[in-house]
Amino acid sequence: MQTDLRNRDLIGDLDFSKEEVETVLDVAWDLKRKRALGEPHAYLRDKVLAMLFFFSSTRTRGSFEAGIAQLGGHGAFIDSKTTQIAHGDTEREMGEIFGRYFDAVAIRHVTWGTGNRYLNLVAEASRVPVLNMQCEIYHPFQCLADLMTIMEKKGRDLRRKKMVVSWAYASSYLKPLSVPQSLILQMPRFGMDVVLAHPPEFKLMPEIMEQAREQARKYQIGFEVISDKDGMQKAVEDADVVYAKSWGPLLVTDDPEEGKKIQDQYKHWITDSDLMGKAKSDAIYMHPLPADRDIEVTSGVMDSPNSVVFDEAENRLHVQKAVMALTMRN
Ligand code: CP
Repeated sequence: MQTDLRNRDLIGDLDFSKEEVETVLDVAWDLKRKRALGEPHAYLRDKVLAMLFFFSSTRTRGSFEAGIAQLGGHGAFIDSKTTQIAHGDTEREMGEIFGRYFDAVAIRHVTWGTGNRYLNLVAEASRVPVLNMQCEIYHPFQCLADLMTIMEKKGRDLRRKKMVVSWAYASSYLKPLSVPQSLILQMPRFGMDVVLAHPPEFKLMPEIMEQAREQARKYQIGFEVISDKDGMQKAVEDADVVYAKSWGPLLVTDDPEEGKKIQDQYKHWITDSDLMGKAKSDAIYMHPLPADRDIEVTSGVMDSPNSVVFDEAENRLHVQKAVMALTMRN
């Protein structure tokens, strides 16, 4: 067990070793139990977390803000539009200055080609940990919550469990690639056979695909990619975990109108009861939310006993508290 994570950044999923992720999960379960019993756990009294948002959020803001308060600290919500970033405060200023005010800086910045670079530049200038609340490449806290949830439902030994990470149709906006990319990087370390399914225009970043293949080789698990117009149906055969969500065709275009035209060819990529019927009878349905109800997934599936979407959302709180407690303590 690796226990010294003080002052560490968490920007990419592989920034923490497998053993460090196991430590995070161990602490997360302890904190979840303490909260259930009403046991105090104010490990971060007087610590302050900056939460800098360039994009909207329900779960991430709520769970970080509640989490730091439950640990005895305070979360400062900062909407980027209300700062002087547009008037000259660069990443250097934000890292240097927020690093002197706060005990960690959490950032959400999902703009394609910009967000991840922004986080890394702030981290270079900051003397305190930088935590990735989602960029265009990674969503590491979502992925930790997902891993925790899968272990709660399927057992701690996930070897040979089949996890399907599938694209699904959505009409709302071109969603980032970060959730599927984080999943294919992290899950192979925990022994699951991963099947990634998407229409041809919805490829993930080549460098992330290569890293995911490398993880799969290292941990000797299966990693299959189904990239065709009806891949969702094939992928879910006998799956233990069906994780189906939308993302934009961002390697082809980040233009919303052009992207929507491409997306609209694939309205049949919906998670419904027929699709779930192809998976194992005890397969779980996962989605990080928000989902486009009855477009991306039917309400029948989302509200079914196989759906674990609210447990996933809850576990955001526990894994984030664990990472804050481990990285922000004295
Ligand atoms: N899953 C997730 O990150 O939700 P929010 O966008 O609401 O924070």
